[in-house]
Amino acid sequence: MTRSYALGHADEELARLEHQAAMLAPATGLILRQAGIAPGMRVLDLGTGTGDVARLVADLVGPTGAVVGLDRSPDALVAAERLSADVPNISFVEGDVAMWRDGEFDAVVGRLVLVHTTDPTAVLRHHAGALRPGGVAVAMEFDMTGARTVPPTPVAAQARDWICGAIERAGMDPGLGARLGAVFGGAGLGEPTMVGVQGYHPAGDVNGPLVLAGVLRAMLPLVVATGTATAEQVDVGTVRERVERELAEAGAVFVPPTLVGAWARRR
Ligand SMILES: C[S@@+](CC[C@H](N)C(=O)[O-])C[C@H]1O[C@@H](n2cnc3c(N)ncnc32)[C@H](O)[C@@H]1O
Repeated sequence: MTRSYALGHADEELARLEHQAAMLAPATGLILRQAGIAPGMRVLDLGTGTGDVARLVADLVGPTGAVVGLDRSPDALVAAERLSADVPNISFVEGDVAMWRDGEFDAVVGRLVLVHTTDPTAVLRHHAGALRPGGVAVAMEFDMTGARTVPPTPVAAQARDWICGAIERAGMDPGLGARLGAVFGGAGLGEPTMVGVQGYHPAGDVNGPLVLAGVLRAMLPLVVATGTATAEQVDVGTVRERVERELAEAGAVFVPPTLVGAWARRR
C-alpha cells in the first residue's frame, strides 16, 4: 500500500522541506482555517515530515487541543521534535499512514503525503474511520500540471516536465491535487469542498528558481532511474542559475504548483 518516500531524508532534503514548508505556510493556514480546524480539537497530521503542518495546527487548536504528527521516517521525526521543542501540545509518533491508528480524532490532516502512497483512497478511508462523527478530513496536495512561468521560458518548462514525467513513471500522480474529489468520494467522505491556493513569484524573486532547482536536485535519482532524462541532460548544478537568467531576461513571473486543499466532514 505504500512505497518508500521518493525523495529520501538526507540533511539537504530536510533543509529543502523546511524551506518549502515556509513558502507553503500561508496557503496551508488558509486551508486549515477554512476547513474548520479550531481551538480544542485533537488532530492527526499524516506524513508530518519535519512537523510544519503540525505546528500550524497546534497554533490553531491552542492549549486545549492537541496534535499528533505521524511519519514513518525516524530522521524526519528527530527534526520535527527539535523544531517543536517549545510547542507543548504536539507529540510525534513513528508509523505507516496506511496502517497506524490510535483512538478517535476531531480532524485528520495531511499535506503532500497521499501522493507518496500507492492507494491514497484507502489511506484516507482508513483515517476517516477514526474520525468522530462530524470530524473533518483535510488533504492538501499539489496540482503540478499548472506550474509555469508567465511568459513561458524553456529551462523552467523542461524542468517541470522532467519532474512531472518522473513522478508519473514512478506510479505517482503529479495532478493528484486536482483529483482529490475522487479520492474523498472513494474514501466514503462524499464530495469535499476544494480550493486551490496559487503562489506567484514576481520577476526578480529568487525563491522560484531556488525551489525548482531544489526539487529537481532531490528528484534527480528518480528522474534518471525512470529513464525520464539523463544526469547530463539535466545538468542539475546549473539549473538554478539558468532559470534565474531566463526569468530575468524575459521579466517572467514564476508560478509554482497549485496547493489544492480538500475537506469533508464524516457523517
Ligand atoms: C513531502 S513530505 C511532506 C511533509 C509534510 N507533510 C509537509 O507538508 O511539510 C512527505 C512525508 O510523508 C512521509 N511518508 C510518506 N509515505 C508515508 C507512509 N506510508 N507512512 C508514513 N509517512 C509517510 C515521508 O516520510 C515524508 O516525511
